[in-house]
Amino acid sequence: MKEKINFLNKEFKNVPTKELLEFFLKESKDSIALSSSFGAEDQVLSDMVLKIESETNIFTLDTGRLPYETYDVMQRTNLKYNTKIKVYFPNSEDIEKLYQQQGINGFYDSVENRKECCYARKIAPLKRALMGIDIWITGLRAQQSLTRKSTQLFEWDEENRVIKLNPLILWSEEDVWRYINENSVPYNALHDSGYPSIGCAPCTRAVEEGTDIRSGRWWWESPEHKECGLHIKEIKQC
Ligand code: ADX
Ligand code: SF4
Repeated sequence: MKEKINFLNKEFKNVPTKELLEFFLKESKDSIALSSSFGAEDQVLSDMVLKIESETNIFTLDTGRLPYETYDVMQRTNLKYNTKIKVYFPNSEDIEKLYQQQGINGFYDSVENRKECCYARKIAPLKRALMGIDIWITGLRAQQSLTRKSTQLFEWDEENRVIKLNPLILWSEEDVWRYINENSVPYNALHDSGYPSIGCAPCTRAVEEGTDIRSGRWWWESPEHKECGLHIKEIKQC
């Protein structure tokens, strides 16, 4: 697989984002999916893929702890594109067990608790969402954080056994917003209130202008822990 990934990274290095998506949406029609948290990058990708192929599999992981504004943009997106983005929910028994173990906001108490919550609410549902999928499209950008600096256009996700395609990996924040404005793409209202990166409501806060984009995510933890496990190459059940 390593050779295939190296080949793909070399072959598609300079291909414009839209052409890249056109190629893979056609080639892997039934086994390609875009995951969306309805953040700015995902909204760019949803706009692009739905304009190319209106039946593209786009899914979101509804953790049950999302901000109101995320549900609002979900609704506006479904209406604008006349679609119904798939929603994967956590297993109810897992959430009941989690509550018994750590209470309702136990993620503030330790990194271990936080990772258990992310596992039950995001990672386990992600595994279901990726069943039968060969290519997983994400909205990752290298400039988002230290942990993402070396992320490639194509990567192999050993845990989920899928190829990850990160079409916006080299895009800047300005590129994202230029696309959104030029194409009237619906976006999460929290972006206008100092939230460049949006996850679950209790684990996301606004950041000061000019500070690290992801500093409002799990702000009480140190930077090296600031991934929920969706995008860590070797994921263990936390
Ligand atoms: S996270 O791992 O810290 O939550 P981030 O919010 O930066 O990730 O988003 C990076 C990419 O992960 C998104 O572009 C999207 O592809 C995927 N992603 C993150 N959260 C979700 C979610 N709740 N549902 C679906 N995809 C998601
Ligand atoms: Fe739980 Fe917070 Fe992770 Fe959401 S981001 S799944 S609330 S720990």
